[in-house]
Amino acid sequence: MKSIIITGGAGFIGSHVVRRFVKNYPNYKIYNLDKLTYAGNLENLRDIEASPNYEFVHGDILDVDFVEKLFAEKKIDSVIHLAAESHVDRSISNPLEFVMTNIVGTVTLLNAAKKEWGSNMGDKRFYHVSTDEVYGALGATGLFTEETSYDPHSPYSASKASSDHFVRAYHDTYGIPVVISNCSNNYGSHHFPEKLIPLCIHNIQNNKPLPIYGDGKYTRDWLFVEDHARAIDDVFHKGKLGDTYNIGGFNEWQNIDLVNLLCDIMDKKLDREPGTNRKLITFVKDRPGHDLRYAIDASKIEKDLGWRPSVTFEQGLEKTVDWYLENKGWLENVTSGHYQTYYKNQYQGS
Ligand code: NAD
Ligand code: DAU
Repeated sequence: MKSIIITGGAGFIGSHVVRRFVKNYPNYKIYNLDKLTYAGNLENLRDIEASPNYEFVHGDILDVDFVEKLFAEKKIDSVIHLAAESHVDRSISNPLEFVMTNIVGTVTLLNAAKKEWGSNMGDKRFYHVSTDEVYGALGATGLFTEETSYDPHSPYSASKASSDHFVRAYHDTYGIPVVISNCSNNYGSHHFPEKLIPLCIHNIQNNKPLPIYGDGKYTRDWLFVEDHARAIDDVFHKGKLGDTYNIGGFNEWQNIDLVNLLCDIMDKKLDREPGTNRKLITFVKDRPGHDLRYAIDASKIEKDLGWRPSVTFEQGLEKTVDWYLENKGWLENVTSGHYQTYYKNQYQGS
């Protein structure tokens, strides 16, 4: 029986990873360690919460005593680390929180693993889930490979880059058996509506403006979240220790084209006249330090681990819209209270 901590398992990607591991590996005990910040929601895991191989552990990765005790008591032999502050715009208004959670929190987990595993590292694994944003911004051409130099621009990407460096340093210095992946933009169900796609789905439903930063020509490489969870499964089981794997969707979209596509899909779903939702598009002031383009070369994970995305963007986006339309209660719950204040502050004066 493997004993695995998945951190941030109540968040967007983490909940998909927890669900996959709980369902596919009955011989693994999965401990979902989550602080339940505004982004963590146990509603995301209702369908698997009663499974005998699952346990939710409410706690903070910054709490040294608590984390060390958890490693010792549960005899943890693997970590899949997703807990983070993940939203670029929030990192611009509150960078220190990102330093604490993303850097100090990661080092706290590494220290606990080092202390508990001692010299017995044989079957252990520390998997750090990271982002393509550490590589900075691309111009009109080129792709991020695993060899691209780090060049982060936002407090969020700087904190993730720093955490990646610490994870590698603990491998090189203390022999911790680590593996890292750097993934592009995810989309899918249970995505918090501060991020572009769920924010637009929510606003289209409510006939509210769709805020597009700058000229809308910024480009992202989108991956369906369940394909990311499958890639994490592959890297966890087959990834080479000390290595990093880039994960991407082979799927670049300029923001304005993506939002137009979403508007058209939702015109049909909501029985609105073609073109109705596009009228909601509103260009607003740009994000400071906005990275022009991200695009991943995912050939290493494809060649070495046999992974490829399984759904097209059109299929994935339609599935995503259907989920939000069928789960209006989920959206209502997360957009009440604190979300209203965040939204007002973020978009005031735009
Ligand atoms: P998210 O913001 O939806 O969820 C983060 C989770 O971490 C939440 O459940 C939150 O409660 C938990 N958390 C935050 N601080 C914590 C703390 N101190 N202790 C314990 N738990 C804490 O994030 P996400 O979008 O699901 O991203 C998950 C990971 O994947 C992050 O590390 C992120 O950098 C990385 N990533 C995200 C994307 C993306 O497109 N969303 C792409 C590539 C990589
Ligand atoms: O690339 C991976 C990263 O993708 C992850 O590491 C981050 O955790 C995740 O949040 C995401 O970062 P982005 O900044 O790319 O995602 P976001 O959804 O915030 O923005 C996507 C694009 O849309 C980006 O170019 C900014 C733009 N945007 C975003 C918002 C919220 C708008 O034009 N308007 C908006 O209101």
